[in-house]
Amino acid sequence: MRLDKFLSDTTDLTRSLAKKAMHREEVMVDGVVVKNPATQVGPDNAVSWLGQSLALVGMRYVMLHKPAGAECSARRGLYPLAHELIDLPKAERLNPVGRLDVDTTGLVLMTDDGQWSHRITSPKRRCEKVYEVTLAEPLEGEAARRAVEAFREGVLLDGEDQPTKPAELEMREAQRARLVLIEGKYHQVKRMFAAIGHHVTALHRSSIGPITLDAALAPGEWRELTQQEVDAFR
Ligand code: URA
Repeated sequence: MRLDKFLSDTTDLTRSLAKKAMHREEVMVDGVVVKNPATQVGPDNAVSWLGQSLALVGMRYVMLHKPAGAECSARRGLYPLAHELIDLPKAERLNPVGRLDVDTTGLVLMTDDGQWSHRITSPKRRCEKVYEVTLAEPLEGEAARRAVEAFREGVLLDGEDQPTKPAELEMREAQRARLVLIEGKYHQVKRMFAAIGHHVTALHRSSIGPITLDAALAPGEWRELTQQEVDAFR
């Protein structure tokens, strides 16, 4: 990797500031000042800036218990961003693997490994996401049976021309349901319930494929995934 890229990956310097730092003779490779930004460096080189040694961070894989009021987005709007809750260097490079709405809570996977993320979100993989849903009004009896069947067959969402893929709805109580989706359209759960005349008042994602939200994590808390959890999507 080029030295200017190495510096921008391991510090807050942009590539152009990294070049200036090299020009000021602040950067050393294996104990020697290096001024050429195109110099190739690898894991065996000792790189330092202003005497501080630098190491590349590898790919990171995190599960976050997203609280309500945090946003899975790249740019800061009204709400704190999901990566701002994660106390790791360069956390802004961790991208959410599929988004949750601001008011939705639960499992968000975050990583800087784009290929791993794609394996989970690719529509071809049909990765199951489990949601716990709270409804404003009871959905019971014959109406509940029709909802289960409608979701299994697919419903046409407002503004779409293709029905949703088969989804598994289980009514646990009159106003509480579990819904398993194998796709991730915008606001899909809320729009599916809207399509059958119901309003979702609370939504929580409890699992993505084989990874379940760790019950030890309170809203706003996170942990790195275990190797086994990472490998589950390899
Ligand atoms: N479906 C929604 O409507 N909202 C979410 O946050 C996730 C799925």
